[in-house]
Amino acid sequence: MAINSKKSLLDSKRKLVAKYDPKSPISEQYRTIRTNILFSSVDEEIRSIMVTSSGPGEGKSTTTANLAVVFAQQGKTVLLVDADLRKPTVHYTFKLTNTLGLTSVLTNQKDLMEAVNKTDENNLYVLSSGPIPPNPSELLGSKAMQLFLEQALEEFDLIIFD
Ligand SMILES: Nc1ncnc2c1ncn2[C@@H]1O[C@H](COP(=O)(O)OP(=O)(O)OP(=O)(O)O)[C@@H](O)[C@H]1O
Ligand SMILES: [Mg+2]
Repeated sequence: MAINSKKSLLDSKRKLVAKYDPKSPISEQYRTIRTNILFSSVDEEIRSIMVTSSGPGEGKSTTTANLAVVFAQQGKTVLLVDADLRKPTVHYTFKLTNTLGLTSVLTNQKDLMEAVNKTDENNLYVLSSGPIPPNPSELLGSKAMQLFLEQALEEFDLIIFD
């Protein structure tokens, strides 16, 4: 079972349908979500999005990663941030190591742009979670997180949080 679940975590082709099968009806649905998000705010440009849900395993990470892909495909520079410090999976989806990431930036061990990874999707950049701290919610609610967002908004058109 453990091997199976690890395998499914690593199966990024199935997860990143918007990247690997852009013509599929599922990818079209992600583009519809993209359009709906863009039209949800008329006067102000949307610069950051957080995807969350009430329970575990409801498809947050899958949705977030595919949304990040379709926004990047539209030409926006997108930073996908793995802010799920309880169960980070973005590094599996994009086949990255997770030795440094968001937590390294928040604790001032790395600069934002040193911790960000370029992906092979044009315009799409990824920041994995980094090592999991004992106090995740404290870190996410910190002043450092606010500064992080401000800095990220200077570098990217859109920040998407898992
Ligand atoms: N729309 C969907 N329909 C069917 N299965 C899905 C859908 N979205 C995701 N899944 C599958 O459900 C499982 C959980 O998805 P995912 O990891 O995206 O959820 P999550 O909400 O991020 O979970 P967690 O709470 O553990 O972070 C995965 O195996 C994924 O492939
Ligand atoms: Mg998840």
